[in-house]
Order: sequence, then C-alpha cells, then structure tokens
Amino acid sequence: MLALLSRLVSQASDKTLWIADENSKPLLQRGLTYRGALLSNRWDIVKQAQACGIKSHFSDFDLAACSQDVQQIIYPVSKEKAAVHHVINAAATTLPVGGELVLLGEKSSGIKTYAQKAAQRCQTAKNLQKHGNEYLSISTVNPESANGVALDDSDYLTLQQPAALGGLYSKPGQFGWNKVDVGSALLAEHFPSSLPEGQANIVDLGCGYGYLSARIAQLGDYRITATDNNAAALRSCAENFEKLDIKGNVLPGDAGSEIPANSADLVICNPPFHQGFQVEGDLTDRFLEQAARILRPQGKALFVVNEFIPLGKKAQRFFSTSECLEKSKGFCIYRLTKQ
Ligand SMILES: C[S@@+](CC[C@H](N)C(=O)[O-])C[C@H]1O[C@@H](n2cnc3c(N)ncnc32)[C@H](O)[C@@H]1O
Repeated sequence: MLALLSRLVSQASDKTLWIADENSKPLLQRGLTYRGALLSNRWDIVKQAQACGIKSHFSDFDLAACSQDVQQIIYPVSKEKAAVHHVINAAATTLPVGGELVLLGEKSSGIKTYAQKAAQRCQTAKNLQKHGNEYLSISTVNPESANGVALDDSDYLTLQQPAALGGLYSKPGQFGWNKVDVGSALLAEHFPSSLPEGQANIVDLGCGYGYLSARIAQLGDYRITATDNNAAALRSCAENFEKLDIKGNVLPGDAGSEIPANSADLVICNPPFHQGFQVEGDLTDRFLEQAARILRPQGKALFVVNEFIPLGKKAQRFFSTSECLEKSKGFCIYRLTKQ
C-alpha cells in the first residue's frame, strides 16, 4: 500500500485532502513533500505531518470542517468499517461535482467491497484498478451523487451510550468502543489497594473513552489527566469527564507526550498493542518510558497487559521495582514503582 500511496501523494495538487490513519504513518516517518492538506484522527500522525511541513487537521474524521476547496480525497482505508463508511458518506456530500474519492488498500483491507460501496454511494460506475498487491478505487462525484443512499456508519459522529458501558459515553472510531475491556476491568479491581494518599494527580495513559478514569474517580479526591492519541477517544472521554464531573482534563498526546515530567503520583494504563493493520513492537516500551517520565520520584504505575508481554522484564529499564499483582483471564496486572 505504501508504494501506491507514495505515488498518489507525490502527484497530488494543493486541492487534495489526504485522510491518514495509522496505516499512513510509515510514509510520513520517511519524510516527504506533499502539496495538499492532511486530516487524521491520530495525534502522532498530525505531529509527524506538521514536521514534514504539511498543513494538517486533527479531528475525528470531520471532513465538513476541512474540505472547502478540496477536489480530491485520498484515503488508504482504515481497519474499522464504520470509519470507512463515514468517510465515503462524508466525501460524497462534501466534494464538489467532478471531485474524486480515491480509496486504496491491500486485498485483505476489504478494498474491493469498499470500491463497490463508494460507487453505489456516489451513484457512479465502479472503477477498481489492481497495482501489484494493492488496489485503487476512484469514484467521481456527479449530480446524481446527492441521491445516493448513505452507508451504515454506526452513526459515526454521534456520542452514544452503549448498553455495556453502564451510562458512559463512547462512539465508533476507537478501540473497543462499545464494550468494557476485560483487562481494564481486571486492572480497576486493583485500584483500591494501590491508591495514592490525599489529593493526588493521576494520569490515565491511553484513556480510550475514559473507563479507567471513571472507575478511579469514584475512589477519592483526585485530579485526573486523561490522554490518548485518537480523536474519537478524546471526544468520548471529555464527554464522560463532564458528565461525571471528574476533576482534571483530557489531552491529546502520543503516549503522554504532552504531560509534564515528574507531575503524577499514579499512572494507570492499558497500553495499545496493535496499530491499524500493523503490530507496533516498541509501543509497550514507549508507554513504560513515558509513564516513568511523567511520574514523580516514588510514584507508581498500574499496568495491565496480555500475559505474553514480558512487562516485568521491560519495566526494569525504567522502574526500580515491578510486582505482578495478578495473572488471570489471559492478562497480567503489574504495579511498578519509580526510583
Ligand atoms: C487497550 S486501549 C485502552 C483504552 C482504555 N484505557 C480502556 O481501558 O478502555 C489502548 C488505548 O491507547 C490508545 N493509543 C494507541 N496508541 C497511542 C499512542 N501512541 N499514544 C496515546 N494513546 C494511544 C488507543 O487509542 C486506545 O484508546
């Protein structure tokens, strides 16, 4: 996918909008010249794009807010169906007549089905091209596109209250948006025995919709900073902070990059493992390193990870002690203490 994307990006005009999620990150990491604008729901990608001098928007794929004057949208399809359907729907209504929606992906990404759906939504003939292992779909907006039926995007832009979350808000476009993660629920059971004293500062690293923050906020008078890389997660978490009157704030960041050093008494974290279609090997290490940086001396971190991740061993580089508090249901809970 990167070879094809790289070619498209090099041919783009200043009226091109590149919608980038984690699958575009390796291209940006290499550094590149690109004339159009970029929209991403990921904070690290927006930062990376800005470092390449690209005009970038960070939002939950809010096309309406940034597609004025755009003639072409290039979108390497995301992993989540609701996000792809949302982008196709939004492109069909925001691009002018004659504008192009270009989707690309490998066979396993579902690109063939998306090409069909984009054509249906734009009321145009399917145009799917094969380039090695990659596929390119081009749909041109025409006067009939206004009559196309919207694809089911699980009400992508709306904050929702899925039944399993006991009243918390969430929405599509983020990790496990409509369920409580088993590992996170297990981690929360250990909060009562590891609480900091008094009015402590707590950081929820990779907060998602804010499940861990909501659980720990009930247990004391804490100031909680919740941070995530994903715009959908941040929107949901901010809504939950407001609804539950949680003291603190919700910030974008790459593994806590925007949080001052030595500022927290406790870090709570269920770190990510997968990024889009890739597994990012160093993610756990980055989360550990950032947790140690954010904590004040003697501060503690509570982590939950899949049991096959050797967190205790990895933590030795950044923490003075590491205890495995529980191993069950395929997860391990660790308490780490900073020097
Ligand atoms: C396993 S989920 C846990 C979510 C939430 N804490 C919970 O317990 O439900 C990991 C979270 O890390 C976020 N994440 C992924 N990469 C990140 C990064 N580089 N920086 C910050 N957060 C990231 C994901 O968006 C996701 O919300």
